[in-house]
Amino acid sequence: MNSHEGKMLIDVFTIFPAIFDSPLREGLLGKAIEGGILEVRVHDIREHGTGRHRQVDDAPFGGGAGMVMKPEPVFESVTACLGYGIEDLERLREEVEVVMLTPRGERLTQARVAELAALPRMALICGRYEGVDERVMEHLCTSAISIGDYVLSGGEMAALVLIDAVARLVPGVVGNRESLEEESFSGGMLEYPQYTRPAEYLGWRVPEVLLSGDHGAVERWRRQAALAYTRRVRPDLLRGSGDETERED
Ligand SMILES: C[S@@+](CC[C@H](N)C(=O)[O-])C[C@H]1O[C@@H](n2cnc3c(N)ncnc32)[C@H](O)[C@@H]1O
Repeated sequence: MNSHEGKMLIDVFTIFPAIFDSPLREGLLGKAIEGGILEVRVHDIREHGTGRHRQVDDAPFGGGAGMVMKPEPVFESVTACLGYGIEDLERLREEVEVVMLTPRGERLTQARVAELAALPRMALICGRYEGVDERVMEHLCTSAISIGDYVLSGGEMAALVLIDAVARLVPGVVGNRESLEEESFSGGMLEYPQYTRPAEYLGWRVPEVLLSGDHGAVERWRRQAALAYTRRVRPDLLRGSGDETERED
């Protein structure tokens, strides 16, 4: 159950705030924000960059390729925007879930999405370059999340994936709660195949049972189809691990 009454606040920290403009305006997310169920505030870390050039990155200690995001702009941006003093990090971490998006984080699952959706607020930190100075992870963040085993050029797309998945579970965002219960992953399986009109297209007919009007038969067909499909594509889900590294060939 959700522990907050219908509203979630998400603060995003990035050096590319414009990336969020369109995704947060369109579709379900746009509606949720317009309806006041979800509030997403996007903060530009560069406003807290150091020096005249508002520097946010520097070369890695120990050498190596690329640049690393400096700690000061991130610590200062997050504490200032969330209304905490820099000496108040412990309280901040107790009161706000501060998530670092990183391929080094725990891999996101629907179960984790549901946990996050039950929180009244969270803050998301988007890395760029070779990543973020590790002191941010150690002393500011409360968790690290990866959206999958691949490397993106920045955390912004990952943050949007997380926001989208979490927002769908905040009460009031998806009109029909039933559709959430039947979705992929919710019952430890992938969803059954869906069809709509026309009943025949280019000679391909939809399964007859779906046209039969027999709700019991439809229900049984869907359960079996979901099971067969999951067994073929993601057998790891049926073992309850949800870990694709354990997939059977
Ligand atoms: C080029 S990546 C840095 C990768 C880092 N050098 C490594 O090997 O782990 C830049 C930023 O993109 C984001 N990112 C990349 N892949 C991601 C993933 N799978 N999940 C979440 N964030 C990711 C992170 O914020 C990261 O700091």
